[in-house]
Amino acid sequence: MSSSPKKEVRIFSPATVANVACGFDVLGFCIDQPGDEVVARFSDQPGLRIAKITGDDGRLPLDPKLNTAGVSAQALLRHLGKDNLGIELEIHKKMPFGSGLGSSAASAVGGAFVVNQLLGEPLTRRQLLPFVVAGEAAADGAWHADNVAPCLFGGITLIRSNAELDVMNVNIPSNLWAAVVHPDIVVLTKVAREIMPRHIQLETSTQQSGNLGGLLCGFFQSDYALIGRSLHDLIAEPHRQRLIPQFYQAKRMAMEAGALGFSISGAGPSVFALCEGEAKARQVAAAVAKVFSQIPIKATPYVSQINSKGVHVIDQK
Ligand code: HSE
Repeated sequence: MSSSPKKEVRIFSPATVANVACGFDVLGFCIDQPGDEVVARFSDQPGLRIAKITGDDGRLPLDPKLNTAGVSAQALLRHLGKDNLGIELEIHKKMPFGSGLGSSAASAVGGAFVVNQLLGEPLTRRQLLPFVVAGEAAADGAWHADNVAPCLFGGITLIRSNAELDVMNVNIPSNLWAAVVHPDIVVLTKVAREIMPRHIQLETSTQQSGNLGGLLCGFFQSDYALIGRSLHDLIAEPHRQRLIPQFYQAKRMAMEAGALGFSISGAGPSVFALCEGEAKARQVAAAVAKVFSQIPIKATPYVSQINSKGVHVIDQK
């Protein structure tokens, strides 16, 4: 639905948990915090410019062609035939790099979404999807929508095909909570993807498919026991767990504290548990954070219901 163009728009683009254990590259959900803020405003200088980046310790490029938010925004402007329109972006990074929380995806979604809002919403969220996937691909070199789709649409999203970008939202059980814990170490997605197995056994594939189907049925039927039985990753977790100190101890503590299931968030090092109810989620997050703190690695917990809103405008003029 289009609206009138704005002078300046500020958006909030939230963190996401990709893979959700058994859905490598095809399943993700959105949480409330942390998230990036991106501002767009018109400028007299023709073309897209990134005027300012904060919170990145100088690590991110200001060149829009090399920056995930710049790539997605520019892809959108090219599609609209508005490459020469003067627009400047400000990116305020409020989530850690290499964290497994979808940091580059949040910026990629933020770039295209904020420009689309500034222009008065010429495109729908769904139409923005190819541009935000292109922005994310600029960061990790891979074409997958399991962070950008839940960030863009909110909720739990299943990607039937990354190639075709055939994406759908999944029912969110009303008392489903996520406990996400970020241990303060960096795992680069590129590295975590390189250690993935190139081939998997037929039995492993069969079991993983059963779990993914079970998890989706569990979401649709709000069957928490089925969600718990299905929340296992036989493909990425056995290889990637070694990038996360005390992973199995954290998992043990999460399950003892009442998690339905526990695994790696995206490429890690963040970990997540799904829980029935807020109180359980808080207990689980505290138990997992304690394991990392004892190493000692600083650990930041995020407890959230599934965020059904996704990226959204927080201010506009
Ligand atoms: N599905 C991706 C992976 C998410 O696990 O590599 C990280 O960007």
